[in-house]
Amino acid sequence: MAKIFAIGVGPGDPELLTRKAERILRSVPVICAPTAVQGDASYALSIVEPFLDRSQQEIIVQVFPMRRDQVGLGEFWEEAAAEVAEKVREGKDVAFITIGDPFLYSTFLYIYRIFRDKYPDIPVEVVPGISSINAAAVAAGVPLGMASERIAIIPAAFEEKDLARTLQEFDTVILMKVSRVFDAVFALLQELGLERNGVYVSRVGSSEEEVVFDLASLVGKKLDYLSLLIVKK
Ligand SMILES: C[S@@+](CC[C@H](N)C(=O)[O-])C[C@H]1O[C@@H](n2cnc3c(N)ncnc32)[C@H](O)[C@@H]1O
Repeated sequence: MAKIFAIGVGPGDPELLTRKAERILRSVPVICAPTAVQGDASYALSIVEPFLDRSQQEIIVQVFPMRRDQVGLGEFWEEAAAEVAEKVREGKDVAFITIGDPFLYSTFLYIYRIFRDKYPDIPVEVVPGISSINAAAVAAGVPLGMASERIAIIPAAFEEKDLARTLQEFDTVILMKVSRVFDAVFALLQELGLERNGVYVSRVGSSEEEVVFDLASLVGKKLDYLSLLIVKK
């Protein structure tokens, strides 16, 4: 039976795909790629473009809008899952590509849940990828954890007091999806005397990669969604 592959394509550099991911992407007849906005290019697709043959492979860009409250998003996920299921039922293997690793805050996880509930007969194989966290730490030259150091990974949807506690309790804190709340986070870092302990990394692995240690210089700016902050004591 045909199956679904959830492929982690890494953070931006095509050379950061695993050999397994590349092999599967070169061989499947259908590739599904997510985008947040109808008509916008898929970042994940741009990463794997060098491995695809558009004359032989069908490429479907699916819309997964991003909203913090997630109200009304279920229908987009259901629709995307149904489209994938239809291809599999036609006997075609489908690769669903996702930035970084599929099991870390990825778009794929929404349809993975639907698959397990609604299409339990369709096999799903997940291929791990290098997450943006790993690549950002290396780009910034900031090791994530040594010896007994404790690491926290949090999405930016947080209560300020929870974040203050996390920053106090952990040696390394990674803030994903930080772009929209950066100014508030910076103010809190200042309060805790940690404003010089952070590094902001955007579009890691791509030609637009940025690594910024002077966090004050980012205040008031519109920041890229594909960015994260590492705070290391
Ligand atoms: C929906 S999550 C996806 C995480 C992804 N599955 C991973 O393993 O890295 C999106 C968040 O991941 C981070 N991210 C993804 N790609 C990135 C990149 N190339 N550079 C910096 N941060 C990135 C950002 O914090 C972004 O807001």
